[in-house]
Amino acid sequence: MKTVQLLSGEKVPQLGLGTWKMGERGGSKREEIAAVQLAIDLGMTLIDTAEMYGEGGSEKMIAEAISGRRDKLFLVSKIYPHNASRTNTQVACERSLRRLNTDRIDLYLLHWRGRPPLSETMEAFQKLKADGKIRHYGVSNLDTSDMEELWGVDGGPLTQVNQVYYNPAARGIEFDLLPWQRKHRVPIMAYSPVDQAKLATDRTLAAIGKRHSATAAQVALAWGLRHPDSIVIPKAVKPEHLRQNAAALDIKLTPEDLAEIDKAFPPPKKKQRMEMT
Ligand SMILES: NC(=O)c1ccc[n+]([C@@H]2O[C@H](COP(=O)([O-])OP(=O)(O)OC[C@H]3O[C@@H](n4cnc5c(N)ncnc54)[C@H](OP(=O)(O)O)[C@@H]3O)[C@@H](O)[C@H]2O)c1
Repeated sequence: MKTVQLLSGEKVPQLGLGTWKMGERGGSKREEIAAVQLAIDLGMTLIDTAEMYGEGGSEKMIAEAISGRRDKLFLVSKIYPHNASRTNTQVACERSLRRLNTDRIDLYLLHWRGRPPLSETMEAFQKLKADGKIRHYGVSNLDTSDMEELWGVDGGPLTQVNQVYYNPAARGIEFDLLPWQRKHRVPIMAYSPVDQAKLATDRTLAAIGKRHSATAAQVALAWGLRHPDSIVIPKAVKPEHLRQNAAALDIKLTPEDLAEIDKAFPPPKKKQRMEMT
């Protein structure tokens, strides 16, 4: 598995597994547990979840799937902004730890910016880190001005990633956020990298895929993975999707492929509003 170095120096898998919409329905549990286990077998040992996903159902499902294999994994979870205050962060994190049946979360993210000041969330994250409940912390859906503000807050510059919406059809961050994060050596963690399956039927990506004996979804992932400093976290339950996603790591897009993608999905020419899914 290719790796990406965090600001702390730790290396994490470049391709992980997303789990939004998993752990929501009891009827899908067996299939979802098998998907997490197959992802791990395929090297996708970075697993992304959130207290929001299935209101804890995703974290509980993951706990079942990873039983006995915790030590080889890098678990990412996220706190609701309304919980990310000085007083509530600790309690929310402890609930996630219980559901995940683990003693530490490898990377704990503020899911998006809410009412509690960033200074409070950072203070609470630093305390959780000092107590060994989380190993690293970061943010999600923060725009450039938020990142600048965060860098002025105590503990802010220890932020390890910003998890953002990024795929060929959602490129707004390329204008200023991605350059800002590069300058500060903060990797992006690209979510919805196949645009919630919409890119799996895209004609431009499918035509490029044909030249690589690959699917459109694989081309979308290879496009996200072309940045060696970006982590990409597709969600997949179907075994064939998981296998294809792991194989996307070996697809090297040519300059012609990238030019075709730029034509179909032009990069931003000016600042765009931060998009969220
Ligand atoms: N921080 C945030 O605010 C935020 C927001 C959105 C998402 N996320 C995280 O990012 C993860 C990924 O994003 P996402 O779930 O929104 O969307 P996504 O990964 O872009 O798309 C998931 C969908 O694509 C399908 N798929 C996956 N691989 C495929 C392949 N090779 N060929 C065809 N279809 C494929 C999946 O199908 P099957 O499941 O049927 O296999 C599923 O329907 C989430 O699960 C979550 O962990 C974070």
